[in-house]
Amino acid sequence: MATTFKNPFFLSLFLSVFIFSSGSDEAELLLTFKDSIEDPLNSLSTWSNTSFSHVCNWTGITCTTTPPLSVTSLILQGLNLSGEISPSICQLPNLSHLNLANNLFNQTIPLQLSRCRTLETLNLSNNLIWGTIPDQISLFSYLRLLDFSKNRVEGRIPSSLGSLKSLQVLNLGSNLFSGTVPSSVFGNLSELVVLDLSVNPFLLSEIPEQIGKLGKLEQLLLQRSGFHGGIPDSFVGLQGLEILDLSQNNLTGELPTRLGLALANLISVDVSLNKLSGSFPTGICHGKGLINLSLHTNFFTGLIPDSLDDCSSLERFQVQNNGFSGDFPNALWSLPKIRLIRAENNRFSGELPDSISNVAQLEQVEIDNNTFTGRIPQGLGLVKSLYRFSASVNGFYGDLPPNFCNSPVMSIINLSHNSLSGRIPELTKCRKLVSLSLANNSLYGEIPTSLAGLPVLTYLDLSNNNLTGPIPQELQNLKLALFNVSFNRLSGRVPFSLISGLPASFLQGNPELCGPGLPNSCSEDWVRQQSARPTKLICALISIAFAAGIMIVATAFFVMRRSSKKKSRSGSWHSVFFYPLRVTEQDLIAGMDEKSALGNGGAFGSVYTIRLPSGEFVAVKKLLNVGSQSWKALKAEIKTLAKIRHKNITKLLGFCYCEDSILLIYEFLANGSLGDLIYRPDFQLEWSVRMRIAVGVAQGLAYLHKDYVPHLLHRNVKSRNILLDTDFEPKLTDFALDRIVGETVFQSSMVSELGSCCYMAPEHGYSKKATEQMDVYSFGVVLLELVTGRQAEQGELGDSVDVVKWVRRKINMTNGASQVLDPKITSSSQHEMLDALEIALRCTSVLPEKRPTMFEVIRLLQSLDSKTSLRIVFSGDGEFSTSG
Ligand SMILES: *[C@@H]1O[C@H](CO)[C@@H](O)[C@H](O)[C@H]1NC(C)=O
Ligand SMILES: *[C@@H]1O[C@H](CO)[C@@H](O)[C@H](O)[C@H]1NC(C)=O
Ligand SMILES: *[C@@H]1O[C@H](CO)[C@@H](O)[C@H](O)[C@H]1NC(C)=O
Ligand SMILES: *[C@@H]1O[C@H](CO)[C@@H](O)[C@H](O)[C@H]1NC(C)=O
Ligand SMILES: *[C@@H]1O[C@H](CO)[C@@H](O)[C@H](O)[C@H]1NC(C)=O
Ligand SMILES: *[C@@H]1O[C@H](CO)[C@@H](O)[C@H](O)[C@H]1NC(C)=O
Ligand SMILES: *[C@@H]1O[C@H](CO)[C@@H](O)[C@H](O)[C@H]1NC(C)=O
Ligand SMILES: *[C@@H]1O[C@H](CO)[C@@H](O)[C@H](O)[C@H]1NC(C)=O
Ligand SMILES: *[C@@H]1O[C@H](CO)[C@@H](O)[C@H](O)[C@H]1NC(C)=O
Ligand SMILES: *[C@@H]1O[C@H](CO)[C@@H](O)[C@H](O)[C@H]1NC(C)=O
Repeated sequence: MATTFKNPFFLSLFLSVFIFSSGSDEAELLLTFKDSIEDPLNSLSTWSNTSFSHVCNWTGITCTTTPPLSVTSLILQGLNLSGEISPSICQLPNLSHLNLANNLFNQTIPLQLSRCRTLETLNLSNNLIWGTIPDQISLFSYLRLLDFSKNRVEGRIPSSLGSLKSLQVLNLGSNLFSGTVPSSVFGNLSELVVLDLSVNPFLLSEIPEQIGKLGKLEQLLLQRSGFHGGIPDSFVGLQGLEILDLSQNNLTGELPTRLGLALANLISVDVSLNKLSGSFPTGICHGKGLINLSLHTNFFTGLIPDSLDDCSSLERFQVQNNGFSGDFPNALWSLPKIRLIRAENNRFSGELPDSISNVAQLEQVEIDNNTFTGRIPQGLGLVKSLYRFSASVNGFYGDLPPNFCNSPVMSIINLSHNSLSGRIPELTKCRKLVSLSLANNSLYGEIPTSLAGLPVLTYLDLSNNNLTGPIPQELQNLKLALFNVSFNRLSGRVPFSLISGLPASFLQGNPELCGPGLPNSCSEDWVRQQSARPTKLICALISIAFAAGIMIVATAFFVMRRSSKKKSRSGSWHSVFFYPLRVTEQDLIAGMDEKSALGNGGAFGSVYTIRLPSGEFVAVKKLLNVGSQSWKALKAEIKTLAKIRHKNITKLLGFCYCEDSILLIYEFLANGSLGDLIYRPDFQLEWSVRMRIAVGVAQGLAYLHKDYVPHLLHRNVKSRNILLDTDFEPKLTDFALDRIVGETVFQSSMVSELGSCCYMAPEHGYSKKATEQMDVYSFGVVLLELVTGRQAEQGELGDSVDVVKWVRRKINMTNGASQVLDPKITSSSQHEMLDALEIALRCTSVLPEKRPTMFEVIRLLQSLDSKTSLRIVFSGDGEFSTSG
């Protein structure tokens, strides 16, 4: 032998034979494993003995790094695999890691795998594993990591688990275990670093005393299970513990004294939602690394010592819903990293220090329902990260600081039920404010008009104060879902849109308010009623005269232009056709008269239907107001739009251009627009057709946003820009006109674009940049139109209410979302309609970041659709069973 090996040739021959044979053995074992597995996504296609690749190159396989190459790990997670897990792989001599997490294996715990003598980690998390853990689990004697979490394993946790002495990670979370957890399990698991028994609601057990002996334990996760009784004193022995989560159990008694002092490595402690009592754990920040402390919703009492300045890493402090009393620890307000402070529903007293302005990271403060006093600190508005400040039901007094809402991200302020006085300061900076409640104070003066400039303000409660003066008309522009000014001393006319859809009780207790539906009608109303007829007549006459005037001017203009063009400027037209169109500019211009005009066009220009000499129809949009782009740039932009090919986007066939106008030639769709349909008093469309339209529009938008290169925004999504073909397949038109006319002209045109305002996202008011989320908002409005059967803007009594506001108020007031559904659709579709309503409400969320992407919308809508069709299939089952 020795002599043979000295010969390098023989050595390499020997090695290559060895590699080959071991490789092919392993291939066979793996192919046997594959044979018993269902692989719907064909993820294991590389597992094949016909290809020349070695097993080490197969999907999910890792091998030893040095020859002889041999499989060490098999990681096949999230591939929708099911079938049987075959023990053939146990013959792989070096297999150490098996991870089949996030698949669909539906079987009992595969004990055969205990034959894999070299297996160190086994991860079967998130499958459909069921049955109990048998005592033979002890056969897996070499395991360091065992993860059975997120399955349906039931029965007791057997004490035989205790013989897996090498275990470092044991995760049995999110299963159906029941009964008690035997304390003896943990006696031998001295290597354990992570122990997770969380979310096992059927456990009914005390926390085993023995856990306290696991000196290497870093994470103990027992939340949301059925643990009751006390927290064992032995826990002070968990020297290495970093994360302790005992929340949402039925624990009673006190926290072990010295817990904080003994455990120097704690990062997070959560014992919330139990029945614990006793006092605040002093020294909990002893280790100086604590980031999260949650004691909320228990029966803790007593004082919180002001020694929290140890907690220099603390970010989240939650002690709400307890019986704490005494002065609130002032040190908390100056911790350098603090982000969240929740202390509501206790009996804390004290004042908020002005130094709050130094807390650079503070995001959320909730201290409602305590006995705080003093003034609202002047520095509150200087905390730039603060988005929620809630301090209702306390004894705060004095004026509101002028800057109290200056944080640029401030979203919720609740200072109701205090003793604040003075005027409400002008609020101009907090342009993300969604909810403002100042109810039940002693505020006086007028309602500041600047409130109307906060674009996403949705909930406004100023009731029970001493406010005087009128309700600012400008508040009508907001999409207020709640507007309560009851019991003040307001006077004057209530803007119509602030009454519509809101209960009268939100205005009561203001004897000097007047308006329709109130005890007082306004005196000017009376004057108006007297003179209504003549005024209306005059208005009508004026508008007719005006329209006629415009028509005359326009006609004259056209005639002049046509003749002038024929004479001298016919050569100045350039045309580019992307499809073979047999038409000249002159044909187009000649065809563009009042007869062929469709609707009133809008600010960008009118649309005409034109019959080509070949007999086909095209739609021609005439853009009057073109920006100052060069011919070359313009051509490039329009070409970009013309290259879009999607079944839900209108084809741009070509364009003509002359100095001051552009004719865009689109394919013609005979059914008109969705907007025209909804506008008709007899609007009626089946729910399935409405869904088809919604999905189609969503697909068109998703294509523009993400699939098409360059990515485009539509920027003018509305039902009038959704054309329908003869099968009611929708096609978006008027997309991305900003690219043709330029940003400045686009913006100014949008301002006067008819009937667009209700489709515009509220952040339009403050955001300079157009975003996908704005398109999503507009889509949401269209979806609301489909669900409710109402137009985006529906006028009543000359004032109008947009559909978003209308829906929000109805739902807010009545708690009955089904009231907003289009009554013309049969109740059998009610489920899907409610689901679609929910999607529409998400799309029209005031906060852009809460809106889904168009791809998410498609997925959500299609899941409704499949539910619908499933229901149809099931209901038709009886009929079809005989024929099938
Ligand atoms: C591939 O494996 C199958 C059985 O798994 C066997 O029948 C076939 O002969 C093998 N082909 C080659 C080329 O090894
Ligand atoms: C894996 O594939 C690569 C190329 O795809 C090849 O170079 C390499 O030799 C293969 N490894 C084995 C062990 O077959
Ligand atoms: C995997 O299976 C789940 C449940 O059956 C299914 O919802 C999901 O769509 C599947 N994933 C893929 C990529 O097919
Ligand atoms: C693989 O297993 C063989 C046989 O058990 C053993 O001799 C070899 O050392 C192992 N290789 C590695 C890298 O563990
Ligand atoms: C698992 O398999 C059993 C039959 O073996 C079947 O009754 C059950 O529905 C399956 N579970 C799932 C979630 O597919
Ligand atoms: C098991 O695999 C899943 C999916 O990759 C992973 O999220 C989880 O952390 C793994 N479990 C352990 C204990 O590492
Ligand atoms: C712990 O280990 C000892 C000694 O190896 C053994 O006798 C005992 O049964 C083990 N305990 C458990 C619960 O497995
Ligand atoms: C707590 O115990 C009560 C009965 O004592 C039980 O109804 C409840 O479900 C338990 N809660 C939890 C979270 O286990
Ligand atoms: C206020 O807190 C007390 C406990 O201090 C609690 O009993 C009461 O229900 C709370 N009130 C409200 C409105 O939450
Ligand atoms: C409102 O103002 C009047 C007169 O200024 C005063 O008498 C009354 O007490 C005030 N009411 C409240 C609730 O502050």
